[in-house]
Amino acid sequence: MSDTNKKGRIFSGVQPTGNLHLGNYLGAIKNWVAYQNEFESIFCVVDLHAITVPQDPAALRQSTREVAASLIASGIDVEQAILFNQSQVSSHTELAWIFNCVARLGWLNRMTQFKEKAGKNRENATVGLYGYPVLMAADILAYKATHVPVGDDQKQHLELTRDIATAFNSMFETDFFPLPEPQIQETAARVMSLRDGSAKMSKSAESDMSRINLTDDADLIAQKIKKAKSDADVLPSESAGLSERPEARNLVGIYAGLSGQSEAAILQEFGGQGFGAFKPALAELATAVIAPISEEMRRLLGDIGEIDNQLAKGAARADAIARPILDEVKEIVGFVR
Ligand code: TRP
Repeated sequence: MSDTNKKGRIFSGVQPTGNLHLGNYLGAIKNWVAYQNEFESIFCVVDLHAITVPQDPAALRQSTREVAASLIASGIDVEQAILFNQSQVSSHTELAWIFNCVARLGWLNRMTQFKEKAGKNRENATVGLYGYPVLMAADILAYKATHVPVGDDQKQHLELTRDIATAFNSMFETDFFPLPEPQIQETAARVMSLRDGSAKMSKSAESDMSRINLTDDADLIAQKIKKAKSDADVLPSESAGLSERPEARNLVGIYAGLSGQSEAAILQEFGGQGFGAFKPALAELATAVIAPISEEMRRLLGDIGEIDNQLAKGAARADAIARPILDEVKEIVGFVR
């Protein structure tokens, strides 16, 4: 699949987590769907990254399938893009080992996500959690990906990927690895809780009413929007008027993310109207976009054999790209083959 008329090769990874919600959809999934026509696309459910913190095996298997189903239901075309789970393609771990011998302790010590995830009890964090960004570099460079869609929280890891590529190239006096470019998401949609406009929408928030799950049906979606926290004012006609109104800003932001319209255009239309008018419009939009996805997701999850089959096919296609690249790396490093 060396599509010469595409802009380059994208690689992106998503953690296998349960309870996928609107924040995951607007923050990542929707962008991936848009990229697959422009770029040769490789999308990976990163189960190897998942086990850097303890996982229940049955839950991990379930989440991996759920994430795959959500991507397919959202419009990832598995005939075109490659969709697979990381542990089925051994190049990721093999290349990660080689990169462990390129990356320096000093570089990893600067990774802010490790510090956050390890917390106070650093001595007890797994070696895998520490090496997490090295595996991520291997994910990307195993395919010589040129572009990587990432959110803000992953920018530092992508920087490290570039450092590892540069160091490898210079250690072995080659220009083997390209330096991948971050593909920053255009709609920097930060979807907040429907109960509290200052907290991110989260799979683990106690109240299910705080989020729209990708498995919610149309009635439940509409109900959650109608009950969402808002305020008593009418909507402003310009963005500045939202600055001290986190709940209003969140609902307008969700409308923008779902419709593809700018915040300005939405406020032009709804400025001067209250939530009594805006919420039904938002509920209609949200059910129109999300309900078909959740219906398809539930259908797909009814046939696990078919999901597994798609993941295995994707893994075989991914392996066909990564294997020859890894072979060249082994040659460069000096392994007898
Ligand atoms: N670390 C990423 C996240 O938590 C997931 C990920 C793993 C990834 N490998 C990747 C993202 C490679 C982009 C490219 O969101």
